[in-house]
Amino acid sequence: MVDTLTIRRPDDWHLHFRDGDIMRGVVPYTARQFARAIVMPNLTPPVTSAAMAREYRERIRAAVPQGVSFEPLMTCYLTDTTDADDLARGAAEGVFTAAKMYPANATTNSASGVTDVEGIYPVFERMEAEDIVLCIHGEVVDADIDVFDREAEFIDRYLAGIAQTFPNLRIVFEHITTSDAVEFVKAGSEKIAATITPQHLHINRNAMLVGGIQPHNYCLPVAKRESHRLALRAAATSADPAIARKFFLGTDSAPHLRGDKESECGCAGIFGAPYALESYVTVFDEEEALDRFEAFASLNGPTFYKLPVNEETVTLERVAMPVPAELPLVGETIVPWHGGQMLGWRFVG
Ligand code: DOR
Ligand code: ZN
Repeated sequence: MVDTLTIRRPDDWHLHFRDGDIMRGVVPYTARQFARAIVMPNLTPPVTSAAMAREYRERIRAAVPQGVSFEPLMTCYLTDTTDADDLARGAAEGVFTAAKMYPANATTNSASGVTDVEGIYPVFERMEAEDIVLCIHGEVVDADIDVFDREAEFIDRYLAGIAQTFPNLRIVFEHITTSDAVEFVKAGSEKIAATITPQHLHINRNAMLVGGIQPHNYCLPVAKRESHRLALRAAATSADPAIARKFFLGTDSAPHLRGDKESECGCAGIFGAPYALESYVTVFDEEEALDRFEAFASLNGPTFYKLPVNEETVTLERVAMPVPAELPLVGETIVPWHGGQMLGWRFVG
């Protein structure tokens, strides 16, 4: 039995840092485990220009602890009025690594998102020409679409069309939660990939709704039924490299204070950053796929994003590790993913 696992230092290809004191409080958790992270732009106001992203990047860099090497990779928040020239310039100057499309009102701070997907096709055309990665929150938000069906509906209504219209556009289908998404990504060209969160590998929707409402298991897209969770696990840990390389690590770590989760209108988002690698490696261990963990965590993402893999390594060890029920943040508390549970792996460094 393997008791320690050493892999190239991973990257987190999807997370939320917020801004200000919360950002300064959460960045060290990510910088401890990951070399780089794709930083979501859903601030208030959203990060819609290269100038805003440049300043935000500096604020994040200033929050990285002394002696720790960590690079934030910035994204542009797409709106109905995105300036494609500014986006292209920002990408050429190395400020933007990708652009993020939220359908308007799909999730936290997405009110300025895209209301008419085909309306921003000219921006996608430019992104395709400039080879800028498009990250997509794939949920239809119409009131008549059941919350559990929103991802599958998005594929049929929008994603298939985008992929067909822009065959050379690199697309990351973010935080996928369904077997429909797995099948879409598997069937797509090498330009289509997906991130998978730790929570969607660990829980199905019962974890949110059985035995009382569990706000700390609530995020968007919501966890789905068990068959979907199993499809995500099979994809992430697949022994077929042609399948496995299309899926990579993206925690969607989304900090909300305990009080904002345990509320009559609890926020969507799970704070996965502090024990992210322990959480993921547990899944690979359970699936007897520890030998495939490095590809998922450290190789597939950089390959898709056309970035170098990291040269440093990190080590995880098999040992019982209690996860704190809560962590201090900005004078209040936040519940981390797995808070109060025991994990069987520990991040050594
Ligand atoms: O649960 C989520 N929280 N899903 C998202 O898409 C956004 C995120 C957040 O920003 O809190
Ligand atoms: Zn997210």
